[in-house]
Amino acid sequence: MKIGIASDHAATHLKERIRLYLEDHGYTIEDYGPEVTNNKSVDYPDFASKALSPLLEGKLDRVILMCGTGIGMSISANRFIGIRAALVTDEFMARSSREHNDANVLVLGARTINHDRALDYLDIWLKTEYEGGRHQKRLDKIDYFAKNIQI
Ligand code: RB5
Repeated sequence: MKIGIASDHAATHLKERIRLYLEDHGYTIEDYGPEVTNNKSVDYPDFASKALSPLLEGKLDRVILMCGTGIGMSISANRFIGIRAALVTDEFMARSSREHNDANVLVLGARTINHDRALDYLDIWLKTEYEGGRHQKRLDKIDYFAKNIQI
């Protein structure tokens, strides 16, 4: 599985921790920045976009985005049609976001969750399959409204 990761300045340490963990577990990682040594303030939509474009082009299987709260990255990511980004703060959300929502993007808040626990959420999210069935028509409706409703 090929996974893209990106953050803003508030989450570079969590991003580095996740990169090392995933590489240790045999995943191929593309790191879209910013660098952990770079404390310069950056704008999270720029880094969301860097990782999400290759996901939408089929060059990545999943993406993990991180910022201080995870909220800015979630809002940014869910503006892209075809992205189903889940801001996860516990094991139940990690599992449900895959089983029910087929989330292709995991969002984590570096300032809101314990970083050891974040690795548990990540493991669950990567290993849980989408259930399909009754959930699929709901996902189809998300895309339908995103593409067809203009006010
Ligand atoms: C950066 O200070 C902070 O606003 C950002 O990391 C994130 O929490 C935004 O949603």
